[in-house]
Amino acid sequence: MGKKVCVLGAGGGIGQPLSLLMKLSPQVTELSCYDIVGTAGVAADLSHIPSNSSVTGHLPSAGTWPPTHDTGLEAALKDAAVVVIPAGVPRKPGMTRDDLFNTNAGIVKTLVEACGDFCPDAVLAIISNPVNSTVPIAAEVLKKKGVYNPKKVLGVTTLDVCRANTFVGNAMGKNPDDVDVTVIGGHAGITILPLFSQVEGFSPSDEELEALTVRTQFGGDEVVKAKAGAGSATLSMAYAGYVFAENVLKAMDGDDSIVQCAYVESTLTDSPYFASPCKFGKDGVEEVLGFGEITAYEQGWLDKMLPDLKKQIQKGVDFANN
Ligand code: NAI
Repeated sequence: MGKKVCVLGAGGGIGQPLSLLMKLSPQVTELSCYDIVGTAGVAADLSHIPSNSSVTGHLPSAGTWPPTHDTGLEAALKDAAVVVIPAGVPRKPGMTRDDLFNTNAGIVKTLVEACGDFCPDAVLAIISNPVNSTVPIAAEVLKKKGVYNPKKVLGVTTLDVCRANTFVGNAMGKNPDDVDVTVIGGHAGITILPLFSQVEGFSPSDEELEALTVRTQFGGDEVVKAKAGAGSATLSMAYAGYVFAENVLKAMDGDDSIVQCAYVESTLTDSPYFASPCKFGKDGVEEVLGFGEITAYEQGWLDKMLPDLKKQIQKGVDFANN
């Protein structure tokens, strides 16, 4: 069945390659690209790719593509099944994701308000950082509008899974694409916890395990440093966002085998939002699954992360309500 996907922030470093991948997706029949700049060009460009979907570009006001198309967020969001949100500023060297809060919290709040108005049934896949706080912001905004569905407000932590798979696959001499590490917690520094103990056939030394864990937690910093002020991960994030959205769409279409990690409202720990494996279905997350047995080493990281994670969640909740 055909599905409309909307990318909010489609003109950006993540938004452009993510829109390209969504244009290529066999699941997508309609792609709408929204940003405050540049989407007429992005949409015109993508429209020449011979794939199964139409594409439209939207700006807050005039200048959309095709020129006759309705402008604005309403047209971009109307009838969307999935909305992927990479809008907002990225990190520069020396910044944490939390340093982005002041700018991105407001952007996400405004965009999610529009989602509540124009596509209240859509699954929202939130990429904008700090994800630990922007997901609670989205939930509070939708609660106020009376349209919050915890199964459909999702933080995208797939890049952490991609990094863990790549690092451990390389360490094991295996194709990283054949590895699927469970990564739990949140999406910032020590709130990211890869469960390498659950990877079959992997028995690292204590030092190797520590190095891999910390590299997964701070992998984003490698990219920020290498880009030297030009932003953070965009290409790997576009890939991760595409994988995530594609899985959501497949499950909507009846594939009952989809399990992937997502940052969602959760009762697994005393943190009200938590990333863990989730079973996906026709309406988003069907079930938040547990994360199985963890080692004392992993429990140590979990105990350490929870105060930070809860603080970042509360910051989002307070922002949305004040
Ligand atoms: P970018 O600056 O290249 O692109 C952001 C885009 O958002 C720009 O085109 C900008 O015009 C647009 N935008 C700003 N305000 C907007 C609004 N009100 N409505 C619609 N669009 C708006 O940044 P980049 O590199 O694409 O990163 C985007 C976000 O994704 C950042 O917050 C970054 O921290 C986050 N990110 C998240 C990751 C994750 O794993 N969840 C990984 C990497 C980045």
